Amino acid sequence: MKVAIIGQGYVGLTISVFASEFYEVVGFDKNQRLVEQLNRGISHIEGVESSVLQRWAKAGRFSATTRGSDIADADIVVIAVPTPLTNDRQPDLSHIEAACKTIGENVTKPVLVINESTSFPGTLRNYIKPAIEKYSATVIGHLYSISPERVDPGRGDYNQKNTPRLYAGLTDEASEKTRDFYSRFCDQLVEVSSPEVAEAAKLFENTFRQVNIALVNEFARIANVLGISVYETLDAADTKPYGFMKFTPSAGVGGHCIPVDPTYLAAVAEENGLPATFIRLANEVNLEMSRYVVDRVEADNKGSLQGKSVLVIGVAYKPNVADVRETAAELVIEHLRKRGAVVSWHDDVVATWQGESSAALSGADIAIVITKHDDVREQEILASAPYIFDTTGKIKGVKGL
Ligand SMILES: NC(=O)c1ccc[n+]([C@@H]2O[C@H](COP(=O)([O-])OP(=O)(O)OC[C@H]3O[C@@H](n4cnc5c(N)ncnc54)[C@H](O)[C@@H]3O)[C@@H](O)[C@H]2O)c1
Repeated sequence: MKVAIIGQGYVGLTISVFASEFYEVVGFDKNQRLVEQLNRGISHIEGVESSVLQRWAKAGRFSATTRGSDIADADIVVIAVPTPLTNDRQPDLSHIEAACKTIGENVTKPVLVINESTSFPGTLRNYIKPAIEKYSATVIGHLYSISPERVDPGRGDYNQKNTPRLYAGLTDEASEKTRDFYSRFCDQLVEVSSPEVAEAAKLFENTFRQVNIALVNEFARIANVLGISVYETLDAADTKPYGFMKFTPSAGVGGHCIPVDPTYLAAVAEENGLPATFIRLANEVNLEMSRYVVDRVEADNKGSLQGKSVLVIGVAYKPNVADVRETAAELVIEHLRKRGAVVSWHDDVVATWQGESSAALSGADIAIVITKHDDVREQEILASAPYIFDTTGKIKGVKGL
């Protein structure tokens, strides 16, 4: 069986290497440079070793392409393209639409189309199927299903194999074939009654995280005015064996999922006449954290950051990955620069970002820790500046949330 995977990013490449053990995989991406890099056996994401990519390429089980015609003889097509927000923060299905165009124009025999991209309930039924049909020259009769991705790049304990996977087809046959496909490399498959339930479950999982992160961020501010440690309080609450789940404060949420997916849920709620007050508010509280961090740093530094050299430590949105999408560091840096600070950043995992390179971990007036990668030593952070503000809770004995 040949599997075409549209989009070779965090999700698509991860699924590609797992599927390569059992299927012939062609990874389709519109990014020519990325495709060339993958065909040279170089992985661009954490969690996918280049050596594994090379092994499957050598065995003739994996290749990458930008040519739509290379997916023509696939038996299964998986969609794993971005689902961002538009400038006015509405769901942006343009990449899904483009992927559907590629499938419609190139796949001329009936196949199973599985969507792994995160989107609102109804996307498979009302957008993907009609779009592929629109771009197909003839009526083909593909099967359609959804299996939302839950991969957490950089995570060691849960991966494609041991993370339970939800799925549902538009028809029983689509569900069955989807189960067959994933059961080779995923231990636990959970069928739900409709694609809409699977789509909604994925959005709710990430909304649950966003709302709880907002709550703990708000609590961090309350704990600060009360003069108690937020971390000690959370650890104390966490001794309750039921009914509590610990989330930790931060300078804000980042990545492609948590700051984005809840807006998909809010948008579909509002389209149906329901205000998504809680979801919108959580987003605001999280976005506000960057300003709060800079306010605290400014207050600790005689009320002015003018001309101060500030080193932001860790600009990836979470530890041990190079992913800077929606990173809270961006807003923190923006607030700092508006207040006259001279900002540089240190993050050797990210290395280059927005035309700037990772600076030395030393010599600043002020250091603000946004993300602490494992390979950055606490001692080095402590020596980087006379004043340090930590938003991670990992650096002992300094100011922080
Ligand atoms: N990153 C995660 O941790 C994660 C986890 C779960 C779900 N998701 C969801 O999975 C989807 C993909 O996310 P990602 O993180 O893999 O994105 P990504 O940005 O890492 O990768 C997407 C890839 O798709 C390519 N692409 C875009 N449009 C294309 C098109 N029309 N044809 C071919 N290739 C195209 C891009 O060049 C890029 O390489 C999103 O819906 C996201 O919300 C992501």
